[in-house]
Amino acid sequence: MNLSLTEVSAPHVETPCVVIGVTEGGALSASAAAIDKASGGTIQRMLGSRDIATAIGKMTFLHKLEGVTAERVLVVGFGKLKKLSRSRFDRACLAAGKALRNHPLTACHICLHEVEFGDAGFAWKLRQAALAIHRANYRYTATKPLKDDSPVPLESVSFQAGAEHQAAIDQAHAIGLGFQKARQLGDLPANICNPAYLAQEALAIAREHASVELEILEEAQMAELGMDALLGVSRGSVNPARLIIMKYSGGGAGRQPVVLVGKGITFDSGGLSLKSPENMTQMKYDMCGAAGVMGALLSCVLLGLPVNVVCVIAAAENMPDGNSYRPGDVITSMSGKTIEVLNTDAEGRLVLCDALTYCERFKPLVMIDVATLTGACVIALGHHASGVFSNDDELANELLAAGDDVVDRAWRLPLWDDYQSQLDSPFADMQNVGGMSAGAVTAACFLSRFTEGQRWAHLDIAGSAWKWNEKEGATGRPVGLLTRYLMTVAGIDPVAA
Ligand code: BES
Ligand code: MN
Ligand code: ZN
Repeated sequence: MNLSLTEVSAPHVETPCVVIGVTEGGALSASAAAIDKASGGTIQRMLGSRDIATAIGKMTFLHKLEGVTAERVLVVGFGKLKKLSRSRFDRACLAAGKALRNHPLTACHICLHEVEFGDAGFAWKLRQAALAIHRANYRYTATKPLKDDSPVPLESVSFQAGAEHQAAIDQAHAIGLGFQKARQLGDLPANICNPAYLAQEALAIAREHASVELEILEEAQMAELGMDALLGVSRGSVNPARLIIMKYSGGGAGRQPVVLVGKGITFDSGGLSLKSPENMTQMKYDMCGAAGVMGALLSCVLLGLPVNVVCVIAAAENMPDGNSYRPGDVITSMSGKTIEVLNTDAEGRLVLCDALTYCERFKPLVMIDVATLTGACVIALGHHASGVFSNDDELANELLAAGDDVVDRAWRLPLWDDYQSQLDSPFADMQNVGGMSAGAVTAACFLSRFTEGQRWAHLDIAGSAWKWNEKEGATGRPVGLLTRYLMTVAGIDPVAA
């Protein structure tokens, strides 16, 4: 998708569609006012007669307005001005993006970021509007190609702004492509996207970008390292595990890397602790942590951020088999700590603990793992926020702020050591499940035992990584949060807040 900037005033832009925003209780934006004036007051008149809807996310298409070059004007409602916030702004922009995607248009001109509210700066609104349009344009085509009568995606979109705002749309474009990569991987079925496939995807990124180095460990190499927790999970599968290590060096030698670790369970049947059919249907998405960190690395590469990033993906499939690991088995992780496996469905923490131990060698600035780790996190936070856990308040706050800024939000949950005793085992250093209460917290507590002495955070994206009931598939989250965080680390001044 081609994003560009133009200063031609809204009534005169040569485009099939001009997109403007309106609020209830706010003044007309500059472009809306210009179109109103050119068309002899049509916008104001239609607002007055309620033929234009101002409610949030409501759309009105106007056709062939007098004095307006574009064939149509799309008016997007942003709701009550008093209620308008960054997340509501984002929601209205996404709705506009969807309306445009479902219309047979291939180009449009957007003025949504001119809607004034609160403390949101022009450049921030421009970036978020561009990112929303980019995200809404996503289509899954891998196993269901577009038909001739499917609405065509947008190809080129211009925004009402001067050339000095190029950085805002560059950010939107790079983050948008990271989201897209994560969604494509998330949406692929497990019979295509297995550990070897994830490795191939990483290879494709490394081949295309000279700044990315790749290393892939096979099961024999992992066995030599003593990664028996990860290998235990993989044992029941005919698709062998991979540890995928991608290194982006944009920050120069000697700078400590941000290490991103992704849970890449390409299918989670539960193993011998088999899931019920209804709980299994969506488990191709159990590699969305891996997809998210890969997408964020891609965004970072495309932006050329001056930062070093190491991305480690623990890719495996969790299946029942005669060779599967069993409930009650005691395994020794790479760290030397022993784990009693009471539930083979708590496999994410097992692959992650070995990946986290492996990452010590990179002497990380910080370590952030991303995982569809627990159903309990979805009970706690639902689908709007990812869960954040950290042993470092500053890191937690930076991640929360990054998520707020790009409207890819997260919420912190506790990691107090009061919860740790739920993992006590009579047969090993710990057990892999902590009982009924605080399941998201005890999962994070388990991981914390493998990150001692590190600045570490864990993102539980079980609720946010895909749309559970809406047949909309993967969201690509938390690519936005992670990329924005990497900008902070890189000292890149993002678009003015
Ligand atoms: N991948 C699941 C977590 C999950 C469940 C994510 C539903 C998204 C939707 C994870 O491997 C798992 O099965 N967790 C168990 C842990 C339990 C056995 C302690 C869970 O959440 O039920
Ligand atoms: Mn599981
Ligand atoms: Zn899982």
